[in-house]
Amino acid sequence: MDPVRSNNGPRYKHLADESAPYDTITVDKLTPIVGAEVGGIDLSRPLGNRTFDELHRARAENLVIFFRDQHLTEDQHLAFGRLFGELHIHPAAPHAPGKPELMIIHADKDSPRANGEGWHTDVSCDQEPPMGSILYIRQSPPMGGDTLFASMYAAYEALSDRMKTYLEGLTAIHDGEHYRGQYANYGIADKPSYPRAEHPVVRTHPVTGKKALYVNKGFTRRVLGISRDESDGILRYLFEHMANPLFQCRFRWRANSIAFWDNRCVQHHAMWDYWPHTRSGHRVTVKGERPFYRV
Ligand code: SIN
Repeated sequence: MDPVRSNNGPRYKHLADESAPYDTITVDKLTPIVGAEVGGIDLSRPLGNRTFDELHRARAENLVIFFRDQHLTEDQHLAFGRLFGELHIHPAAPHAPGKPELMIIHADKDSPRANGEGWHTDVSCDQEPPMGSILYIRQSPPMGGDTLFASMYAAYEALSDRMKTYLEGLTAIHDGEHYRGQYANYGIADKPSYPRAEHPVVRTHPVTGKKALYVNKGFTRRVLGISRDESDGILRYLFEHMANPLFQCRFRWRANSIAFWDNRCVQHHAMWDYWPHTRSGHRVTVKGERPFYRV
């Protein structure tokens, strides 16, 4: 069989839920599967209850939502994040002076590396990995620096029933040791150890009840309860599978754009194709719960 095409239609047949209209915001989908731009909202102003509920809904339906032309101070960015829960402090990355919850996202011509290159979900090495991340890019390069997002609901749904059965109940180790030395250019000394956690390979989203693939190339090192070579083979397959463009959208940043993604059901990958230009902003990350699997 041709590995890419078949005569049975697309690999993943997405049926969007019948969506009720929104009253207080506009929601324009980037693809039927993942990502939507939200308009008609100024995040620097207090949000009414109805708008807040609609933002929740837009994120649940689209997994990642984007905002354009927002002008927030650092404190307003933090306050927006706190509307969705307690804020997470990154175990390794640099932060704005005196604001540990405001992670610096920055790359320029002298940077040894850029954040988020490669598919991952944020800090999945934590016992309770972040629920969501709110990235505010203040300075964007003239072109490039896009972020790709992939639906892990779609990646899970597109697996065969046999593979779904195989993965059910498996857990995997997510390890943060790769943070070691990564922020030395900011003068950050390494910690004696970084977080490490065991999570289900498939997790149930606590709000939507949907199942999502929950292994990622950035952090997942080993599936437990099977041999090392089988774990390597399974992870290699799942990492390749989840990177199918069918499950993705690609967001083109402009200065003062914001992306708010749900780490429980999307992975993302930041492109560093804009060297020697500068891309700069902050990320506020909202704490999450321990991942679980429910049949
Ligand atoms: C990250 O992984 O949070 C960085 C994403 C980006 O810079 O687009």
